Amino acid sequence: MNVVLTGFMGTGKTAIGRELSKILNMKIVDIDDEIERSREMKISDIFENFGEAFFREIETETIKKFSRADNIIISTGGGAVLRQENMDALRENGTVFCLNASPRTILDRTSGNDDRPLLKAEDPMARIEELLSLRRPFYERAGINIDTEDKTPLQVAREIVEILKCRK
Ligand code: S3P
Repeated sequence: MNVVLTGFMGTGKTAIGRELSKILNMKIVDIDDEIERSREMKISDIFENFGEAFFREIETETIKKFSRADNIIISTGGGAVLRQENMDALRENGTVFCLNASPRTILDRTSGNDDRPLLKAEDPMARIEELLSLRRPFYERAGINIDTEDKTPLQVAREIVEILKCRK
């Protein structure tokens, strides 16, 4: 079984995934990193040169590829939940978690990084709130929801480990 981390940008998927990887001694695959590696391009350049629709196609292809692996941690990009076929592939052989955080925390965690094309806006806070409200139904039904607010990545990782133990 895989462990899958989904959730909006800045909810801690990468940092929490790394902690989980250490605790569970499982390899972590970050879907965005895999896309960047296979295309030899930054995510923001893929968006800029080929558009979001093209990015979503490669994202699905990459998710399907790694969903066939076993016993890995898969950290997806924040928009992966939007496509049913992504979620079907991830769920087939994985326990899916969805990480949550408030818009303020998301803004704080993402503001130092300019590789998030969807947050390049005049008013990033308004953009976050807009995207979150559009996506909320998708995140709510994506998997086991975990609140990351005011918690360290290690604390959240431990919480996830406890949940996984109960499900065995
Ligand atoms: C996206 C989230 C990003 C990346 C791309 C699109 C989104 O990943 O996949 O910029 O649609 O929410 P992170 O959630 O890892 O930032």
